[in-house]
Amino acid sequence: MNPKSLLTMKDLSNAEILDILNDAKAFNSSHSDWQIPVSSRKLTANLFFEPSTRTHFSFESAEYQLGLQAADLAPDSSSVTKGETLYDTCRTFESLGYGVLVIRHPQDEYFKELENVKIPIINAGDGKGNHPTQCLLDLLTMYNEFGHLDGLNVLICGDVAHSRVAASNKEALEKFGANVRFAGPKEWEREGYPFSDFDESIPWADVVIMLRIQRERGAKIDGMSDAEYLERYGLTLEREKKMKDHAIIMHPAPVNRGVEIDTNLVECERSRIFEQMKNGVLVRKAVLRRALGFAPFGRSEC
Ligand code: NCD
Repeated sequence: MNPKSLLTMKDLSNAEILDILNDAKAFNSSHSDWQIPVSSRKLTANLFFEPSTRTHFSFESAEYQLGLQAADLAPDSSSVTKGETLYDTCRTFESLGYGVLVIRHPQDEYFKELENVKIPIINAGDGKGNHPTQCLLDLLTMYNEFGHLDGLNVLICGDVAHSRVAASNKEALEKFGANVRFAGPKEWEREGYPFSDFDESIPWADVVIMLRIQRERGAKIDGMSDAEYLERYGLTLEREKKMKDHAIIMHPAPVNRGVEIDTNLVECERSRIFEQMKNGVLVRKAVLRRALGFAPFGRSEC
């Protein structure tokens, strides 16, 4: 596996995470026009085997802004339909001269099969396993808001069992000394994740992250309507009033308005949901730059 791959948050030390966040901030200000020098540009391939709007097109936007040429695999019109494995698909792109692979796949830890692929792989989500670039953009959003991560109280609520966002965020936030609690239906509790009562934890939280019900991974609550779900487990207008004055609302999106969150809260003053998307482009630019072997801004390039 290429050492510049990014598969899970475990691949990054705290210092490397901070380097990526700093690079993302630099892309937002002093380095907003920065592009990969022409001689170092590589073709990148975006291989999305699951639906995606934000992650896919923020990678595209990041690639375009960096001056990289990107190609998208449409699984339905590729040789995957003829039975080709993920490994052979990746080796094919490598043989065709592509220099970076961005992959989203429904299988947990699909990348374990790809150890012999030599070009860097950026994981854009594996099943319910990991979502490192979403985690980085979430960290950047919190960092921009509070100036630190240690000591922050972060409450993650909803379909925790099926959420790779919950998994990656737990991992990274705890490494930075944040306090992470979870809430949601009993059915979706996850081993090793500290669950709490949602209503008791709302006034405790500096950050409330709401999660969508991942129906495509089999999540369901029998006999409960959307309105009942919102009332019992969602972020309602009433619950929002119990949040600390400075507390913010986040959501990886797609949002199901009126299910896990009241539609009026999606763009309320506390919401950072669309800010997260902007930050997604910035961290993905930083991660692509790292994948191509560039040292963080402020250090000499390797
Ligand atoms: C998340 C994902 O795909 O894991 N979304 C995203 O990447 N922006 C969360 C979700 O789909 O609910």
